[in-house]
Amino acid sequence: MALDPIYLATAIEAALGAGRIHLELFRQDPRIEKKGPIDLVTAADVAAEQAFRELIASRFPAHAVLGEEHGAGPRAAALPGEVEGWRWIIDPLDGTTNFAHGLALFCVSIALEVDGRTEIAVVYDPVAQELFTAEREGGARLNGVPMRVSSRTALIDALLCTGFPYSIREEQRRQVEVFAGFLGLSRAVRRLGSAALDLCYVAAGRFDGFWEEQLHAWDIAAGVLIVEEAGGRVTGYADEPIDLFAGRIVASNGPLHAPMLEVIHEAYSV
Ligand code: IPD
Ligand code: CA
Ligand code: CA
Repeated sequence: MALDPIYLATAIEAALGAGRIHLELFRQDPRIEKKGPIDLVTAADVAAEQAFRELIASRFPAHAVLGEEHGAGPRAAALPGEVEGWRWIIDPLDGTTNFAHGLALFCVSIALEVDGRTEIAVVYDPVAQELFTAEREGGARLNGVPMRVSSRTALIDALLCTGFPYSIREEQRRQVEVFAGFLGLSRAVRRLGSAALDLCYVAAGRFDGFWEEQLHAWDIAAGVLIVEEAGGRVTGYADEPIDLFAGRIVASNGPLHAPMLEVIHEAYSV
């Protein structure tokens, strides 16, 4: 389905707006709260999501919004003119720990889902001024220029990336086992701290593969479409079609997908 250009334009406008909020507060604002022992929220997370909700409410009042900081929000099921199945999924600041420590690796991630399928995706890194976009069946772009995944075929030549959930201290064994497995079999493994950027970097061919578990829909909704539209593959750990709400994800350039799953399966019987 080719959507009206207004939706991608709105997603880009919203992402650039969130980026402005990030930069106004980056390395400035001391307001950091804890959602859990190591899970932080800053004034930038909250302000960026609030601004996004206001924009969507003013432009598409019948659309639902799922965001990290305000959840599903108070969506009246019977709003007059409600458009069933249209939902925006936003992570207003992906890479909050980096942001809170003054580390310049974070972004905003915005996806528009129609009847359960992501149609539009935008991820914006305001420090690098990199805007990653994708439209279903319309390809993926970095600052307007089409991008493709890498073409490496051997794990030993691959630069991989992963991340760890905030609950890592409760269930470490298998995650560390997989991490060690990839360390021994690939060129190197990175851990950047922003799942949305990790996925965009796979799409741009900077990373050849990415895996992580216990992610949320807002971390990956946009990045999944961006990788797929750049020619890559995204599945769950059992090679099943990706479910944004299942937590586990493997994203690759395609040729490295099966070798990556093999390493994961040494620790996980899926
Ligand atoms: C986190 C980042 C990180 C990943 C965590 C996520 P947040 O999101 O994407 O890379 O390892 O699992 O929760 O909290 O910075 O939005
Ligand atoms: Ca996130
Ligand atoms: Ca976040």
